[in-house]
Amino acid sequence: MLTGEWLDIGWADEIPVRGSRTVQVEGGDDIAVFRTGDGRVFALADRCPHKGGRLSQGIVHGGAVACPLHNWRIALATGEALGEDKGCTPVIPVKLSGGRVLICRASTMQAAA
Ligand code: FES
Repeated sequence: MLTGEWLDIGWADEIPVRGSRTVQVEGGDDIAVFRTGDGRVFALADRCPHKGGRLSQGIVHGGAVACPLHNWRIALATGEALGEDKGCTPVIPVKLSGGRVLICRASTMQAAA
């Protein structure tokens, strides 16, 4: 049982502000780990709920990321499309510990399923 295990993926400072880095998941979607302008960190499956655009290549505005393909805005905290658009991408629990970014390993496995 992997519940409660956290995977250390590196320093928060190494994630570009208003940008992201990706974590590869064997057999599943990559995970996009975002850093907001005010230093918060979020993780989502790297797949837009519209047509699968790579959210990691989008720009973070406030608490959302704009998909690079058709500009849907996806809330980083919930994975839900904002405005008129409907859809949701999986959220990966993430926490900071001493400046390191930890993502929930069990959720990573679910995202890969
Ligand atoms: S694929 Fe993301 S907005 Fe269309």
